Amino acid sequence: MTTVYLNGRYVPKAEAMIPVEDRGFMFGDGIYEVVRLIHGRIFAWAGHAARMANGLTTLRIDRAGAESATLKAVCEKLVADNGLAGGEATVYLQVSRGAAPRTHHFPPTGTPTTVYASATLFTPNFALRDNGAKGITFADIRWARCDLKTVNLLGPVMARQAALEAGAYEALFHRDGMFTEGAATNAFFVLNGVLRTYPLSNYILPGITRVEIVQLIHELGLPFDERPVALAELAIIEEVFVCGTTTDVQPLVEIDGKPVGNGRPGALTVQLKEALAKRLYGT
Ligand code: PDD
Repeated sequence: MTTVYLNGRYVPKAEAMIPVEDRGFMFGDGIYEVVRLIHGRIFAWAGHAARMANGLTTLRIDRAGAESATLKAVCEKLVADNGLAGGEATVYLQVSRGAAPRTHHFPPTGTPTTVYASATLFTPNFALRDNGAKGITFADIRWARCDLKTVNLLGPVMARQAALEAGAYEALFHRDGMFTEGAATNAFFVLNGVLRTYPLSNYILPGITRVEIVQLIHELGLPFDERPVALAELAIIEEVFVCGTTTDVQPLVEIDGKPVGNGRPGALTVQLKEALAKRLYGT
């Protein structure tokens, strides 16, 4: 039986209920996080907690009940209680603006937020990380606050469905002729031997894994230019990888049916994949 967390209580998943007027359901009015636990320990908790706090503050959603220390304890207890502390797990955390009769503007002050969390067994696909995956390009149809991790995910939903239908793993968004990020990942490219990625802005999510990758690039002394790559440069891209909490470093070896470089994961990508694995697993 799976135990989940809802508004201060640990309950069987089948008994966890939220009102139909919850604003997460009606408006996508909420913030979420996905965290990774390895042997019961959260990877890079401080970054996830800070991003969630920033999202709640920016959207003026009450942070009571969603304090960093509370949520950290919830993640650890859910993983332990569901028998997942011996291996790898993810925890999904969501805070919505709560339930109230439907109005576009905020509900009355004091309306309790809905705080939900659930833990799931996680099995990384190491073969896919080693061999590389396919990608597609997709117009970035999202709004202009992609830096907030809101539960309103229709852009990524449409993009990932298009990827699935094309037999691909990830869709690379492009806006104004520039690659921004993946549907649920940040994207790095190699052109002329130099690593490039879209700079932090309102058009991409400030990924926690992205922070790790940028640190590793500096630590390893790899050539790096935090500058967008144009869709028009697609044919001269030498390497591409996407990264995220459940993705690690995932090479893309084919985009829109054409091989990237020699069609195999590139040298810089493999170096960063191995360096991130060391940070995750400490080996
Ligand atoms: N996705 N960009 C987007 C649009 C994302 O949705 C994600 C994460 C990332 C990578 O961020 P991080 O390294 O912090 O996981 C980048 C999560 C995992 C998801 O939606 O399931």
